[in-house]
Amino acid sequence: MALTSKDILGILASFHTAEGIEPLKAGYIQDVAVEPHGDGPKVNIHVTDVWRGAMLTEKDRLALAFFIQNHFPDIKDVRVIPRSREQADTARKIARSPQSPPRTPSATKMIAVVSGKGGVGKSTVSINLARSLAHLGLRTAILDCDIYGFSVPDLLQISDPVQTQNHQFIAPKVQGIEVMSMKFFVDHNAPVMWRGPMLGKAIRQMMEDTLWNNPEYMVLDLPPGTGDIAMDVHDYFPKAVAILITTPDANAAKVAERAGKMARSLDRRLIGVVENMSYMNCPECGYRWFPLGEGGAQSVAESLQIPVLAKVPWVISGESGVRGLVPIDHPAQSIYDQLARDINGLDLVPTAGATTPLIPTHFAVPGKKVPPKPSI
Ligand SMILES: Nc1ncnc2c1ncn2[C@@H]1O[C@H](COP(=O)(O)OP(=O)(O)OP(=O)(O)O)[C@@H](O)[C@H]1O
Ligand SMILES: [Mg+2]
Repeated sequence: MALTSKDILGILASFHTAEGIEPLKAGYIQDVAVEPHGDGPKVNIHVTDVWRGAMLTEKDRLALAFFIQNHFPDIKDVRVIPRSREQADTARKIARSPQSPPRTPSATKMIAVVSGKGGVGKSTVSINLARSLAHLGLRTAILDCDIYGFSVPDLLQISDPVQTQNHQFIAPKVQGIEVMSMKFFVDHNAPVMWRGPMLGKAIRQMMEDTLWNNPEYMVLDLPPGTGDIAMDVHDYFPKAVAILITTPDANAAKVAERAGKMARSLDRRLIGVVENMSYMNCPECGYRWFPLGEGGAQSVAESLQIPVLAKVPWVISGESGVRGLVPIDHPAQSIYDQLARDINGLDLVPTAGATTPLIPTHFAVPGKKVPPKPSI
């Protein structure tokens, strides 16, 4: 069972400081948030900054964090954040403002590329899938939802500043793909330091203020994990389907599985799993080996009852490797092309269409080739 703020509040009822202050009873606990993360939940607790007329001490703050951590050893991190009552009121007002979904181009089918673990190839798969969709003659876009760690423009080697027209952004186009990313609005690779509601606003603004050419497909490249941004994307684009990305190793697969379960708990439709860096083929003798082991996608597929959509090999050429788009003559290219055709064969629902049924009507046997229709 996933940890909830109720569990934390339940245990907080028995916490008191060395001086006998009971913060829950005294009304000093403002809110408790549990963020599910791949490697264990993170807990943020806002507390009133003044306890019994004196500023909250570091000792009591740490004691509170330790108390919770001690009761729930699976928690990755507990943060106890002091806040004035005025700040708490303002935050509550912001949190209450309704999160209506952003306006999106009406005929666009959205594909969220998701993984629990970082660095497994979400961005790489996103851009290569987008290129293959564009090669099928489909109007295709990518929204780089990785607000802190944007990488899509670099992978596609876009360096020109974004243009505007009538107060709207014109998405730069590469290989037929329209691209929008935070990178276009951040100078000199400066870090983005927004939190919470601001992150959602960035995604909303990029979506709404871009002059899209009515894309048929939009690939959403998500950041790793299941934090704020992933939740916003789930909220904002409820009809987007998700592809899970894993590498062949058991660790990445476990984390991808957790991310998949979380997405499913939010009614996200999972169309399948892609195993990236699946194997390597020796260019000399054709011998195939598996540097990261085998079976990652298979275990995700079996556990979540979704198909393995593709296994993408390592794409390496020369000493520096290949970053970004796969060379057009590389065998991985045809794997991406097949993936694009399979996805285009599914009955995906455009943003403005009717809700996709959540219950799959057909399960493919993991590991076997998936017939494009009917979809899961
Ligand atoms: N099939 C592949 N063969 C060789 N290198 C790859 C392959 N897929 C991805 N890479 C490399 O692995 C690194 C991570 O890839 P990528 O940035 O796409 O991962 P990510 O999941 O988007 O990462 P993050 O979680 O940081 O957003 C990059 O250097 C990329 O070039
Ligand atoms: Mg990425």
